[in-house]
Amino acid sequence: MNAATTTPAGRGSSGPGGAEGSAGDQGAAGGWFTPRTPAGPPGNAPASPGGERVRPPAAPATQPPPAPPAASGVPGATAAAASGSPDAIRIRRTLAEVAPVADQMTSYFYALLFVRHPPLRDLFPVAMDAQRDRLLRALLTAAEHMDDPAVLTDYLRHLGRGHRKYGTQAAHYPAVGEALIGALTRYATRTWDGETEAAWIRTYTTISQIMIDAAADDERKGPPWWHAEVVAHELRTPDIAVVTVRPDQPYPFLAGQYASLETPWWPRVWRHYSFAAAPRPDGLLTFHVKAVPAGWVSNALVHRARPGDVLRLGPPAGSMTVDHTSDSGLLCVGGGTGIAPIKALVEDVVEHGRRRPVEVFYGARTDHDLYDIDTMLRLRQAHPWLEVRAVIDGKTPLPDVVRAHGPWDEYHAYLSGPPGMIRSGIDALRGVGVPHERIRHDSLDELVAATG
Ligand SMILES: Cc1cc2nc3c(=O)[nH]c(=O)nc-3n(C[C@H](O)[C@H](O)[C@H](O)COP(=O)(O)OP(=O)(O)OC[C@H]3O[C@@H](n4cnc5c(N)ncnc54)[C@H](O)[C@@H]3O)c2cc1C
Ligand code: HEM
Repeated sequence: MNAATTTPAGRGSSGPGGAEGSAGDQGAAGGWFTPRTPAGPPGNAPASPGGERVRPPAAPATQPPPAPPAASGVPGATAAAASGSPDAIRIRRTLAEVAPVADQMTSYFYALLFVRHPPLRDLFPVAMDAQRDRLLRALLTAAEHMDDPAVLTDYLRHLGRGHRKYGTQAAHYPAVGEALIGALTRYATRTWDGETEAAWIRTYTTISQIMIDAAADDERKGPPWWHAEVVAHELRTPDIAVVTVRPDQPYPFLAGQYASLETPWWPRVWRHYSFAAAPRPDGLLTFHVKAVPAGWVSNALVHRARPGDVLRLGPPAGSMTVDHTSDSGLLCVGGGTGIAPIKALVEDVVEHGRRRPVEVFYGARTDHDLYDIDTMLRLRQAHPWLEVRAVIDGKTPLPDVVRAHGPWDEYHAYLSGPPGMIRSGIDALRGVGVPHERIRHDSLDELVAATG
């Protein structure tokens, strides 16, 4: 594809095969968006002169984007009134139009991407399963939240770092952007016009540049992934395994975080698993994995993995970590394998040697599902500041039990488990006055995406 002549994808094409790109377009670089060499400070607005991108002739920006505030890196941030910046308004209008046809648009987006850039297909899993909409959904969500720069930048930087493990390079971003514009052009026919297209191009340019810059920063700090050899595998119940691995190089992380993990049996299929122990001097990492019905990665880890097998790990992620500058108590609620990061948090408090009250509520459907209760009770015996209560599903739901043991206004709360449990836990705690900034949990969107 000739960069100088590339136009937004899909205009007027009758289908992915009819799009103007050809299967010979091997390199994804160029086009209307040329990523800046990631040298400048992260988050700088890429639509600035340094961006040097070629605007499509069909999409003149008759209304230029509001000037980005120097530090935010996100156009439109200053103009974010209740109604949003002009770009945000246009983007939301498009989103409302495509929402009912999101599935078709996702299929079309990938078809465009792979027909025009066949080598990119190899970066994705063989089966594009139910999670295939995550890339597009994230793009659309990010575009929708362009007026919330702090949250957005944080999210996108994390995403950009995480993309290194897929083999994503800066030069791939224009291809994805063109497929996005192509799909929107086809499915947002009522709201699409030159200004809307220009708004999307500006927005995509900003989003991608934040990801590209974050990945470049991360390159200086660590590898895109780690190999990790299974050194122990213990089946705790017929469907829960405790898997311990040895990374091939130091793997820095914090208790309460999680890693994405790929098994040799499902190449390029990555799933998240929480660290079940705080960082240890021997560098080993432990995960608690529950095999879910028909689940690819979980069944492989529980029923197939054995010592000697080599997995791949992505970088650590997650903000469910302990603030060691505070003395406040920790209220920890773990359901099922959600107890794994809670155990790591308790160990973290032990290692920091500060005596602060830690109250653990361990929820499970049956006694049999309390697969790690012995470990938790041993920890309680050793540490008088720790309380552990097992709560079996019954007449009183877990959040009600937690609430009844309050007050919790002096505590930081940590919730880990199925999304439904986290949601009801948040409601219960907010209901008794715990402010949301003192409630930590993994991203509900990620968890919902994981459990379908
Ligand atoms: C932040 C985070 C941390 C996580 N930590 C852990 C952890 O420590 N231990 C752990 O075991 N898992 C954890 N998970 C879930 C894990 O990432 C996978 O989603 C899970 O192992 C299923 O993957 P799979 O490939 O086996 O199933 P998939 O092939 O993705 O799914 C197969 C089918 O099972 C359904 N399904 C997925 N999960 C469940 C479920 N829990 N119950 C019922 N049906 C389900 C899917 O909707 C789908 O229909 C975590 C998820 C997130 C987002
Ligand atoms: C602004 C641009 C992009 C956004 C917002 C985005 C977002 C996402 C998200 C949210 C996921 C889900 C998994 C995760 O959280 O890591 C994902 C997966 C993925 N992305 Fe991106 N992405 C972008 C660009 C790209 C590019 C340029 C490539 C390279 C071709 C790429 C390749 C992949 C691959 C291979 C996966 C894994 C898919 C799977 O597991 O099924 N992404 N992306």
